[in-house]
Amino acid sequence: MSKIVVENLKYKYPATDFLALDGISFSAKAGEFIGIIGKNGSGKSTLCQAIAGLVPNFYKGSYGGKVMVDDIEVKNVDISDLCEKVGTVFQNPFNQVTGSKLTVYEEISFGLENLGIPKEEMIQRIDEAMELLDITKYKDRNPFDLSGGQMQRMAIASIIAMQPEVIVLDEPTSQLDPQGREEVYQAVQKLSKKGITIFMVEHNMEKIASYSDRVLIIDDGKQIAYDTPQKIFSRDDLDEYGIEAPAFTKICRELGKKNPVTGCYPVTLEEANDLLKKDKGEM
Ligand SMILES: Nc1ncnc2c1ncn2[C@@H]1O[C@H](COP(=O)(O)OP(=O)(O)OP(=O)(O)O)[C@@H](O)[C@H]1O
Ligand SMILES: [Mg+2]
Repeated sequence: MSKIVVENLKYKYPATDFLALDGISFSAKAGEFIGIIGKNGSGKSTLCQAIAGLVPNFYKGSYGGKVMVDDIEVKNVDISDLCEKVGTVFQNPFNQVTGSKLTVYEEISFGLENLGIPKEEMIQRIDEAMELLDITKYKDRNPFDLSGGQMQRMAIASIIAMQPEVIVLDEPTSQLDPQGREEVYQAVQKLSKKGITIFMVEHNMEKIASYSDRVLIIDDGKQIAYDTPQKIFSRDDLDEYGIEAPAFTKICRELGKKNPVTGCYPVTLEEANDLLKKDKGEM
């Protein structure tokens, strides 16, 4: 059973004369980790907004097709009601901090207070969210005294506390150093293992390759492909869409080393290592 179904989604921003999304159709199951890739201006953020219902409920414009989360059609629901089902995390953690709360704990409680969640349940949800994102140790710190990676994990904890079934993350690690980026990825992977469906826009193909179950390529608002990372990064036409395969894939392509079972090139260090070792008869 699919958690999200997108059917022939088309969208044009007001006062523009082109489709920012042009015929997007895919589905994702509960707990799947979906990577969204494509060059600048291809429509990735617009698709995120459409999954979160901001398109067309906030951005307006012309809209066709549909986005379903369970049996709810996103465009027919108030954004404030949908935010309990679909959470969104954006690029810059600084912009997501309320600025009015003195501690990490209070910051995470903010959304729950607005939902009117009873106090005891609130405490339990906040504790669980902090635990999951590994930030319990910072709970009394001022949100602005966190590193970028810690702050982004706090932003994700605030979303998790609302108990969404889907989380949309639009380049959440682009402003983080490699350690912060890895921390966020590890945390998000835990969420998908708990059954939350993840949509992640990302320019780092190594990360997309190692964490995604399936990858969607968008170009000029059009869906080019929706498949496993192995199938996606084994394509010959990635250049056309401004996509560079992970280094491990490129090396194996140079060496002509494909996985004999799938017919695809490896996309992670582990896969490449396994294949090359097998070839040398070491395994
Ligand atoms: N609010 C808006 N009003 C009008 N056009 C917009 C608006 N937001 C985005 N667009 C246009 O829609 C197209 C898709 O933009 P979008 O931001 O979704 O791309 P993106 O793939 O997220 O790009 P990036 O990698 O730079 O973040 C672009 O041509 C962009 O200029
Ligand atoms: Mg974007």
